[in-house]
Amino acid sequence: MVTVKEILKGGHVGEEVEVRGWIFRTRQVGGKIFVVVRDGTGVIQTAMAKGSVPDASFEDAEKALIESSVVVKGKVAEDKRAPGGLELRVTGFRVEQFAEKFPIQQDLSEEFLLDVRHLWVRSQRMAAIFRVRHTVFGAVHEYFREKGYFEVHPPMITPAGSEGGSTLFELEYFGRKAYLTQSWQLYAETLAQSMGKVYYVGPSFRAEKSRTTRHLTEYWHCEMEAAWAGMEDVIKHAEGVISHACLRVAKENADDLQSLGVDVKEIMEVKAPFRHIRYTDALKDLEKAGMGIEWGQDLRTLEERELTKDTKVPIVVTHYPRMSQAFYKARDPENPDIVLAFDVIAPVVGELVGGSERERDINVLEKSLRDQGQDLQRVQWYLDTRRYGSVQHSGFGMGMERLIQFICRLEHIRDAIPFPRTPARFAP
Ligand code: 4AD
Ligand code: MG
Repeated sequence: MVTVKEILKGGHVGEEVEVRGWIFRTRQVGGKIFVVVRDGTGVIQTAMAKGSVPDASFEDAEKALIESSVVVKGKVAEDKRAPGGLELRVTGFRVEQFAEKFPIQQDLSEEFLLDVRHLWVRSQRMAAIFRVRHTVFGAVHEYFREKGYFEVHPPMITPAGSEGGSTLFELEYFGRKAYLTQSWQLYAETLAQSMGKVYYVGPSFRAEKSRTTRHLTEYWHCEMEAAWAGMEDVIKHAEGVISHACLRVAKENADDLQSLGVDVKEIMEVKAPFRHIRYTDALKDLEKAGMGIEWGQDLRTLEERELTKDTKVPIVVTHYPRMSQAFYKARDPENPDIVLAFDVIAPVVGELVGGSERERDINVLEKSLRDQGQDLQRVQWYLDTRRYGSVQHSGFGMGMERLIQFICRLEHIRDAIPFPRTPARFAP
């Protein structure tokens, strides 16, 4: 058995091969029947003439509906009219299972496609995105491992959140309150004191009620934390890992990107370093564009779009106002109203990465925790990071689906993950 991708690479011309897959489409012309087969790596046209295979096989091919599973043997031949320039001249055709009438036809609503997501994942579009996703995940692991980071795993069930109570999923834990993790933040800081440089890619949960095109309630989070590192050090890794993922996808998934309508050259051009701008200067740019906001306010999607409207490459915004930021972000020694925090903002998608240097002073931390309404008792273990060998340290979190959304130019983040979880649905 060979894959469609292997055949389309051209190495098997003239050989007899066997392909296993599902019927993508069937067309009958005169005494010939063309069955296009997909197998997860691509689609290939197969051609059989009446008489070239047993009559029963020819009749099966006529009868089999789309998505029937099939095993096809044939000789690889060049044919300019076939998609990919190659086709399989069939010598053997067997239907593994005759599919019922497939519920997905043309022009169906988004809602319906979400109802039948378990079938829609078979579409060429979804499979192309998932192949990109596969490359992106591989690239992230490759990047951090190559830089000497250890992969280490936090718990998913936690006693306290790190990113504010409003997006915490509460869980009844044998009569007590627990939460699904929003970020590995608190654990990352403890683990950086164990292993120095650590990273992780895994699920995070956010009870985001807002329905936007860039929020999921369950998403995959790539997070890193490094001891003896400041904000600028980890910004380099944020730029580095994004560039590396873009390069890998441009190299390994050029066909997939093309089928999604993405210009591969644009993805190749996402190279570190990105443009850096301080929050306060970003506000000046916004002011000039007639979109002035008050110092201290968060940048909304609207403002992020404005800041990235002339570029295809993400930018880095640094030095955010202290208010409205999570308790653990370090104050700027030059200005206590500012924190050493940054976001990487991508055109259209917006925030890809959020990170910062971490506050080292236990008294400042305790005060911020109290101000944010945290129960100090629940995070005493975390405060031990500042009691036993506190050092400068920094880290960031990157939404994997946001990165995939950016690379694949997806209108909605839900298409970056096979089974999206949003406020409106958690099935199938
Ligand atoms: O900016 P956030 O909330 O930062 C943290 O969680 C930090 N503790 C990370 C760290 O320093 N270790 O989330 C980080 C990233 C965002 O920039 C965004 O890309 C993604 O996670 N993200 C989401 N992605 C999809 N759906 C959501 N609801 C998301 N919320 C955050
Ligand atoms: Mg953020």
